[in-house]
Amino acid sequence: MSRNKSNILNGADSSSIDIAVRALQRDLLVAIPTETVYGLAARASSPSAVKKIFVVKGRPIGHPLILHVANKQDLSLWSQELSNNARLLAEKYWPGPLTIIVKRNDKVCDEITGGRDTVAIRCPNHPVATELLIRLTDAIVAPSANHFGKVSPTSARHVAEDFGDEISVILDGGECSIGVESTIIDCTTEPPQILRAGAISADQIKRECNITIASATGDSRASGMLDKHYAPNCTVELVDDRKDADVRLNQLNGDGRSSEIIDFGDDLQMFAHELYARLRDADKRLIDVVITVKPPMSGIGIAINERLEKAANSNRSRE
Ligand code: TXA
Ligand code: MG
Repeated sequence: MSRNKSNILNGADSSSIDIAVRALQRDLLVAIPTETVYGLAARASSPSAVKKIFVVKGRPIGHPLILHVANKQDLSLWSQELSNNARLLAEKYWPGPLTIIVKRNDKVCDEITGGRDTVAIRCPNHPVATELLIRLTDAIVAPSANHFGKVSPTSARHVAEDFGDEISVILDGGECSIGVESTIIDCTTEPPQILRAGAISADQIKRECNITIASATGDSRASGMLDKHYAPNCTVELVDDRKDADVRLNQLNGDGRSSEIIDFGDDLQMFAHELYARLRDADKRLIDVVITVKPPMSGIGIAINERLEKAANSNRSRE
């Protein structure tokens, strides 16, 4: 864990967590590690702290935020009319990389939900985030700690590179173990709908909980799900296999465009863990094109493909 930037504090030190808690109590923003990606946190009970997130991230107002809680029992503190599915999913997968959308109660301010009557809640599985939440005795809201539409951070250094001193404290909890954002399931519909793929797949939920999850349609789908997102500066091209990647690399190099291949074969965990760091690194080295071999569409591979499609879409909209 690094200490080379003044606002990066080692999350393993108890005193660092105290500093972060005091900053949150003063309505400042703190970057925190989670098992998925780093989050940019504000105290959930302070509308003015929540508003700062939109300014610092450059995020459009009305794009709703995820509430993060210390333990699974806290689901009912912020919600009402909980469905059996919501209860079962929290019981099975919390703490962990699953965000559940439920009907909100009066404790949740409009700034968090963009005025919707639903709220997205998750209980992160990271010792630093958990300790922070326990000491704060409040929930936090935390979008990924990157500028709006850009690649999410999976290390404290990534956050520092994006925001520098704009954030008072960055808690360093090491590299995120998973590396892509949480699965989002809307449990206000019957059947529940998957709004964003993540480490926990719809197939897994069917297998382990016997709950059928549908694809997103209608209002849920429209809620902040943009086709252009996760956009590095380099162009991202997707290919089906390594042979196609090698052919394309030769073509691009022949045209004088700097390019490289991302290919993790069938190692989906490694792919998820490394993807954002690799895209950020390609940008630092001013690579023109990253050719990515698509992973298989199973498990977390679905989430990786979803992110890659959006990164590739961002290129097209720039052309
Ligand atoms: O893994 C994660 O979920 C990370 C870490 C930091 O916890 N957080 C994260 O937050 O990815 P963010 O803000 O980058 O993405 C939140 C997504 C947005 O796409 C938003 O539209 C959706 O959650 N969302 C939040 N509240 C919602 C609601 N009430 N209805 C529908 N979608 C909602
Ligand atoms: Mg994000």
